[in-house]
Amino acid sequence: MKNYKIIHLEETESTNKYALKHLSQLCDKDIVISDKQTAGRGRFDRKWVSGGTENIYLSMIFKPESEVYPYTNLTQFLSVILCRVLEEHYALQPAIKWPNDILINGAKISGILCEGSNKDNKIEALVLGLGVNLNMTQESINSINQKASSLNLILNKKIDRNEFLDKLLNKFFQEYETFIKEGFAFIKDEYIKRCGFLGENVKISSLNADILYKAENINNDGSLTVTDNNNKQIKVITGDLIC
Ligand code: BTN
Repeated sequence: MKNYKIIHLEETESTNKYALKHLSQLCDKDIVISDKQTAGRGRFDRKWVSGGTENIYLSMIFKPESEVYPYTNLTQFLSVILCRVLEEHYALQPAIKWPNDILINGAKISGILCEGSNKDNKIEALVLGLGVNLNMTQESINSINQKASSLNLILNKKIDRNEFLDKLLNKFFQEYETFIKEGFAFIKDEYIKRCGFLGENVKISSLNADILYKAENINNDGSLTVTDNNNKQIKVITGDLIC
């Protein structure tokens, strides 16, 4: 039985924005989905190209009760679940680009943006936004200013959005309670196994973006350790890999 509720919109600026605005009417595990976003947003104020061609634009709402909740690793949990769907149902080999981009053959097909709302110095709710390029035109892909792709272009067929959503949400909620209890430890090995960049030289947006660092490992809290050219270890908590 499904333990989540879907609110389906035809069009909105951004499902994350909608969810944050309507938090008082939304419950824990509600999901807002829109066919189209007119101002889809990405991490670090970037834009998320969101035309109405049967892609996934959704936001999951969480209202954690427990004091111990793995807030910072929720996006990484979703990235692992998404990889499993792509591997098990679409025979693809996705890679995770820290912290939570999903790439296929080096091209980004999905992004995750988690936003929070605080009340009385406590996190009142988390809005976990997910965009997946399921059925993009080559023209929209060309308008994205980084290497991107879409499942229909990779697999050469139209992707059934409802089928994809069902698989994704069922898998997510099957494992969600265990993830909440065990935190990043529950997914660490699975996460690392898909991190193709470990051992490579990378640029990091939150450090000196002109310098190459060596990506060393993923820590128990989901952060990334890199070394600079003096072999100094640096723990990276936020930012993006520029590879
Ligand atoms: C990124 O890679 O920068 C994150 C992109 C997140 C896009 C999704 S689409 C649904 C939700 N609503 C938004 O406005 N953004 C997220």
